[in-house]
Amino acid sequence: MSTNDAKNRLIPAADIRDAHVPGMSAYNELVAQADANHDAYWSRLAREFLSWRTPFTKGLDESQAPFFKWFEDGTLNVSYNCLDRHVENGLGDKTAIIFEADDGQVTRINYRELLARTCRMANALKARGVKKGDRVVLYMSMSIEGVVVMQACARIGATHSVVFGGFSAQSLRDRIQDAGAVMVVTADEQVRGGKPLPLKAVVDDAIAMGGCESVANVLVYRRSGGAIHWHAARDRWLHEEMQDQPETCEPEWVGAEHPLFVLYTSGSTGKPKGVQHSSGGYLLHAALTTQWTFDLKPNDVFWCTADIGWVTGHTYITYGPLALGATEVVFEGVPTFPDAGRFWKMIQDHKVSIFYTAPTAIRSLIKAAESNESVHPRRYDLSSLRILGSVGEPINPAAWEWYHEHIGGGRCPIVDTFWQTETGGHMITPLPGATPLVPGSCTLPFPGIAAAIVDEMGGDVPNGQGGILVVKKPWPSMIRTIWGDPERFKSSYFPPELKGYYLAGDGAIRDAQTGYFTITGRIDDVLNVSGHRMGTMEIESALVSCTALVAEAAVVGRPDETTGEAICAFVVLKGPRPRGDEAKKIATELRNWVAKEIGPIAKPKDIRFGDNLPKTRSGKIMRRLLRAVAKGEAITQDISTLENPAVLEQLAQSN
Ligand code: WTA
Repeated sequence: MSTNDAKNRLIPAADIRDAHVPGMSAYNELVAQADANHDAYWSRLAREFLSWRTPFTKGLDESQAPFFKWFEDGTLNVSYNCLDRHVENGLGDKTAIIFEADDGQVTRINYRELLARTCRMANALKARGVKKGDRVVLYMSMSIEGVVVMQACARIGATHSVVFGGFSAQSLRDRIQDAGAVMVVTADEQVRGGKPLPLKAVVDDAIAMGGCESVANVLVYRRSGGAIHWHAARDRWLHEEMQDQPETCEPEWVGAEHPLFVLYTSGSTGKPKGVQHSSGGYLLHAALTTQWTFDLKPNDVFWCTADIGWVTGHTYITYGPLALGATEVVFEGVPTFPDAGRFWKMIQDHKVSIFYTAPTAIRSLIKAAESNESVHPRRYDLSSLRILGSVGEPINPAAWEWYHEHIGGGRCPIVDTFWQTETGGHMITPLPGATPLVPGSCTLPFPGIAAAIVDEMGGDVPNGQGGILVVKKPWPSMIRTIWGDPERFKSSYFPPELKGYYLAGDGAIRDAQTGYFTITGRIDDVLNVSGHRMGTMEIESALVSCTALVAEAAVVGRPDETTGEAICAFVVLKGPRPRGDEAKKIATELRNWVAKEIGPIAKPKDIRFGDNLPKTRSGKIMRRLLRAVAKGEAITQDISTLENPAVLEQLAQSN
């Protein structure tokens, strides 16, 4: 089937018994309710989905737009909503988390135990002086403990900031410093694909760089037992800290706007930004979307394969499923260990019914299955599945079809969920019992989300014509500010020409017939590599910080079959342009340099050397030209202003 045929295929919505949103008329009714009274719609859901200590009297407060507030005079506790209320409702024995370690060992924890452990952890944090409003940085492996620490922070009103375990010491230090964290929680090592990887050692390096004087304590979860350095004045074993703590801890009742977490993500310019989320509005959308988008029911086994270091892990591991009292799988390892059948085996073993993963993982597992029959999904019993999800990047129709046929047995709907760190939860997505599906389209806005496509002045663009993706009305789980930088928040997301709409940073187009959305990719200098968000500027700064070698660098993305986009760096060295083996050697050195500066996920796939970079007369790097060169396209653009056209030939050669 060609891409075009696949795109035109409309697959009727699944016939799901007792679906939460059963059919398009139910969907349209919800959209109509939200249109009629946005505030009343969200307020009703906030009462239905959350347990409030003090009920709120007002939904949306726009008085300080774009610093919107929701349910501001209500108080609640996020961990109470995720744990205590289920135990109080008789669900204490229900399994909350099925944890599978890298080596296959399985640990189950029920809601009563998870609550007790969270309370002991919360008491341990308090015993070390952590209090409401303090920031706690996590640099943890995927583990029950990771979820427990996040929940414990929420319980005492501390604001957590999780840093993905693949980031370098430098990146970790920048985040600790920006957040002004009082504590770092880490593990001795993480184990992935059979190999131990350091975590505590990276924390040591980060703190040794200076600027982290706010950190009084480092808590260490013993995961591998590997050797680590110990700083007696600062380091504490997590299990020793928790050991004698009581199993109860009165929740700290916080206002709905209290910052639950700050999560750093890449923007088009400058350093990563700390996206600040609220407690009430965020948790509402986490719970609501987990229920409607995945049609989650009490007997489901939910598995989101994301890492808690990314927003997907926050919303669809730590908060959404637990707020609903669901059973979920948490996985420590990687999809290809011990072999590329790992995901399928885990679905079979744990009878997973809802499976949520990223297109990159699917594409790499397709390759593996096609070259090795023993890891083909048909070798596994996947009959427990009923809903599939995709997140983080566009899913190409061919991967969609394979996922649908080979994983979903042709019967499971795929929800292609478009959203962002800043949006807190799903924005545009099918609802499985309602929305007819089109491979490669995230279909329609979630009810209550005023997504639209506009031109550069905020004017509506007709269907069938591409434009800028915006959200016209505030929604409860939206970003509240950029930590410590309200001005950047305003200029990044609410540029004056867009009439107060939220600017997502993506381009999109709506289908002329169905009105369905397709995301066409970022319109700024943000790359999406394997679903990981990275700024081209960040990578450029990392390269030019190698002052011994690099004079100038420009980074662009180019399409990649497996990772969606790949990083391509154009570099001018201080010395002469290297060739042959010398070029390969320096390219490897620079890749390792970037891994050390940012993390291995930021390593350029391609590095190309030139005597200079193509620039306009005013000295601006011609990025569009570089993108074409990276793709290997013929140059059709006007290059008459180019000082040294021969440089294009140099830059076309990869190393
Ligand atoms: C992209 C991840 C197409 C998009 C939840 C967005 C997608 C960025 C999709 C946010 C999708 C996410 N289809 N593109 N279903 N989901 N994106 O902040 O470019 O890590 O702006 O959040 O990923 O990435 P982030």
